Amino acid sequence: MKVRKAVIPAAGLGTRFLPVTKSVPKELLPILDRPMLQYVVEEAVEAGIEDIIIVTSRGKESIAAYFQPRPELESRLLETGAIEMAQMVKYVSNLADVSFVIQEEPLGLGHAILTAMEAVGNEPFVVILPDDIIDYRPGATSQVLKIAQGYGCGAIAVEQVPWDIIHNYGVVAVEKSDQARTYRVRQLVEKPPMAEAPSNLSIVGRYVLPPDIFECLQNTPPGAKGEIQLTDGIGLLLESRDVYAYEFVGTRYDGGTPLGLLRASLEFGLARNDTAQAVQTLINSLATG
Ligand code: UTP
Repeated sequence: MKVRKAVIPAAGLGTRFLPVTKSVPKELLPILDRPMLQYVVEEAVEAGIEDIIIVTSRGKESIAAYFQPRPELESRLLETGAIEMAQMVKYVSNLADVSFVIQEEPLGLGHAILTAMEAVGNEPFVVILPDDIIDYRPGATSQVLKIAQGYGCGAIAVEQVPWDIIHNYGVVAVEKSDQARTYRVRQLVEKPPMAEAPSNLSIVGRYVLPPDIFECLQNTPPGAKGEIQLTDGIGLLLESRDVYAYEFVGTRYDGGTPLGLLRASLEFGLARNDTAQAVQTLINSLATG
């Protein structure tokens, strides 16, 4: 099963990051010096994806601008001897074949994926949520893709979360498979109360989906807030297709909230050679007051 395309939905309102998201797309907020969106595009490229479709909305034009070449900036940096920076600017615009589709209204994640139907066509594809940042190589997308290819069907990334916060997550009901960390999905439940949660495996933003998901999403009724949920669409898909859940290896950071992004920035800062020492000194001095 060859998977060539990735859909990255980036058309949400980012309300948990207001007021900054009044004018700056959440997906361009940085971990250190790189936007979250760049980390997930790099993860897609590492997984062998050739074609990246980003779903954006009106008012988020700076997302497309980020991937455009900036020859005048590159020349200026080269003239002043900032060669590494010039290379970095060029690297971003050469990173992948990126195209854009517009979601006219933020009607939910499922609706955002549906917006990419024509761009994806009749082939399996991956979905990567840019505010779920995962720091591992091979990347979570590669890991889930391997499971999907092994079984020849859909797959989603999951992680165990403490039971007392399970009501904040999409959760899977599963049965064990013959492989480690891997389960066959029986059902998906959005934000269940602890007593009703079928497991503590929460859905993380990496999916491999067959093109049949589009018909399922077209038949998915909007939920309470008028949004079409991807989990409901996958629930319909389960009636005719197998989907596996894989407990990926790596740490997930919740880049959808200010505190999650701060934590990611600190941990990535500690892991990077050029910043580790300075970040450690900063943390020590904050801790000792
Ligand atoms: P989130 O629910 O985390 O993002 O959706 P949000 O809606 O922008 O943020 P809050 O909840 O208001 O703070 C996960 C991903 O799906 C995209 C978002 O841009 C984000 O990358 N999304 C969500 C869409 O593209 N369209 C939508 O209608 C909803």
